[in-house]
Amino acid sequence: MSFRVFFSEADWVEAAVHEIVLDAGKRFSLVLSGGSTPAPVYRALAEWERDWRQTEIFLADERFVPAIDKDSNARLVRETLPIPAEFLLWNTEAASPQAAADEYDQMLRQRAQPFDVVVLGIGPDGHFASLFPRSPALHEHERLAVATETEEFAVRERLSMTPAAILSAKKLVVLLKGAQKLPLIKELESGKKPVEEFPARMLLDHPDLHVLFANI
Ligand code: 6PG
Repeated sequence: MSFRVFFSEADWVEAAVHEIVLDAGKRFSLVLSGGSTPAPVYRALAEWERDWRQTEIFLADERFVPAIDKDSNARLVRETLPIPAEFLLWNTEAASPQAAADEYDQMLRQRAQPFDVVVLGIGPDGHFASLFPRSPALHEHERLAVATETEEFAVRERLSMTPAAILSAKKLVVLLKGAQKLPLIKELESGKKPVEEFPARMLLDHPDLHVLFANI
């Protein structure tokens, strides 16, 4: 794992964009996450000069809300990355979270794998994407996308790529910002809690994991 700390937001954003685009070829598949952390990185990424039509953008997870909802990850990505990439977003108009997950799972199977880069955050309970502690999704080995639930956060019904889909990516870039994330970093370093209690521990198994922490 590569772990880097930054003391200014500008340095953190620059390093994050650099890490994300470093090995991007003409065709590029990029998986993004939601949450409050990544917006400045996505805005800077939008400035990167390339033929965006050759890029596929996926979402690691989504909240089961309309795409115009303030909690929608699709909305976050559309607002921060106004680029002509191919956006492969979850269908939150589907009849149920399960139906939306089935649809995304099918779509992912038809797309080239593995993803080039997956950008992730880590929540206070150690979740990444929408893979929460004690979720059966942590042990899902067949599917690439599932419906999950949380009682801890604003939107209970979630959609998420599975560990199998995320961990097969060529590179993982984890973005953390703020002093409130320090306990998560300590937990990652110690690796003491089991995956069931601290799902992000799974990320440590990835051979090309980059954690960028803005200590601001
Ligand atoms: C989401 C996510 C989620 C997020 C973490 C960190 O849609 O909420 O994809 O996994 O990355 O919860 O969130 P913050 O950036 O808000 O700390």
